[in-house]
Amino acid sequence: MDQELFSAVDAFVGETIVKEDEGLRGAVEAAEAAGLPAIQVSPPQGRLLQLLVRLVGATRILEFGTLGGYSAILMARALEDGRLITLEAKPEYAEVARRSIDAAGVGGKVEIRVGPALEALPGLEEEGPFDLVFIDADKVNTPNYFAWALDRTRPGGLIVADNVVRDGTLADAGAADESTRAQRRLHEMLAEEARVSATTVQTVGVKGYDGFLIALVEPV
Ligand code: SAH
Ligand code: DHB
Ligand code: MG
Repeated sequence: MDQELFSAVDAFVGETIVKEDEGLRGAVEAAEAAGLPAIQVSPPQGRLLQLLVRLVGATRILEFGTLGGYSAILMARALEDGRLITLEAKPEYAEVARRSIDAAGVGGKVEIRVGPALEALPGLEEEGPFDLVFIDADKVNTPNYFAWALDRTRPGGLIVADNVVRDGTLADAGAADESTRAQRRLHEMLAEEARVSATTVQTVGVKGYDGFLIALVEPV
């Protein structure tokens, strides 16, 4: 692994085709000042999310895991006209996110619901179906969030899950880590699932070696 090189490439991409705007930089600074972990998507990954939002013409987005609002701001920016609901377990993170999302000028498009995501799901029944769901919260629950989202994402919509590769431990059938086991379970679940066409894209960069699972919901 050549982490320095991967980070240098992310920096170059960031200086050229994926520039962070003031709203995003402000969100990173506010999160850092408040002591939040710097585990938001990288700028190149964030641009991928924006492209996906635009490609599906999303107007209704659901996000699991707000942190400081970085990915929410990105996706809200890519929304032509629509709404994003984002779920965050920690009230103190949600407060930081609220301020950054408002400061970025997308406050009117973004609703943050505070509390464990599993508990928020019953309250979301009226909000769907969604065009895009981004799963990026507690990794042990990724398969649960995916199963819920699958019934509530429109045909032609996307479900994207972050952090499924986990330094390559995804390939380890004997992995003890519960978060990794959950990603293996998700893949095994999708092997039997005719309603989606999915792939896992491995990524390197400032966030280390990881990857996204991207699933297109097929018309039934
Ligand atoms: N999507 C964000 C990063 C999210 S990091 C971005 O790219 O900018 C993961 C977040 O999930 C953290 O903020 C963490 O507090 C939150 N989280 C963890 N467990 C959760 C749960 N059970 N329900 C909702 N959010 C949870
Ligand atoms: C963690 C969470 C993330 O969503 C991520 O992209 C990287 C790390 C974490 O909880 O450590
Ligand atoms: Mg993540």
